Amino acid sequence: MLKRNIIAGNWKMNKTPKETKEFIEKLLPLIKGANSKVFLAPSFVCLPIALQAANNTNLVIGAQNMHNEDSGAFTGEVSVSMLKDLGAKFVILGHSERRQVFKESDDFINKKVLKALNHGITPILCIGETQEQRDNSETQSVLKTQLEKGLKDVTKDLIKDVIIAYEPVWAIGTGKTATNEIAQGTHQFIRKILAQKFKQIVDDISILYGGSVKPDNLESLLKQNDINGALVGGASLKFDSFAQLVNKS
Ligand code: PGA
Repeated sequence: MLKRNIIAGNWKMNKTPKETKEFIEKLLPLIKGANSKVFLAPSFVCLPIALQAANNTNLVIGAQNMHNEDSGAFTGEVSVSMLKDLGAKFVILGHSERRQVFKESDDFINKKVLKALNHGITPILCIGETQEQRDNSETQSVLKTQLEKGLKDVTKDLIKDVIIAYEPVWAIGTGKTATNEIAQGTHQFIRKILAQKFKQIVDDISILYGGSVKPDNLESLLKQNDINGALVGGASLKFDSFAQLVNKS
């Protein structure tokens, strides 16, 4: 069966509950017959209204982060059972902003990945090198480490529920998209690393590209063999560009 592309919007710290509801209501008719799977991650406080607005539609709602502990004294954090109870279907983990601004480690991210999987929520594990690491020819070793540590103890049965997002840090929010060649080459490398542990099902694992994806560069990225969709920040915030991304995928 042909794998469907995934277009995932990451709204980061943008949009109020009211704006979220209005956006989704306007988006839904335009993406009704979409070929690809459409994901949207609003902020935690917008999840209830987003889930309600997207109920029984082809729009899949998830979260931008979560904690690995079930409950306890973690002021400001959100647990997997809270997400599950709301009905969130996926969670973005290890985004470079979490790694860089909030100093999240590979070990911490791995605990969250395992927790999400154990509760039937799809983790989108983000990996990516900085400009400095790329300049120092460290891209492959950085990605290998982030993948191996992030997926530690993930079994063959569970890996099919994981989505990987390659997001070069230098391309996020900068308008500087990776070229098709760089993106494809890196995705191929990521798949090769995944094949070491998950050979039989490696082709079933979706690897999304993220970093300044826009309607005018999406199509050529999606033509690359190892790119199975996109994780989109800025261009998912504007109604027209999000709808265009979905319709071009
Ligand atoms: P961008 O963000 O599309 O604005 O570059 C992507 C992301 O951070 O997921």
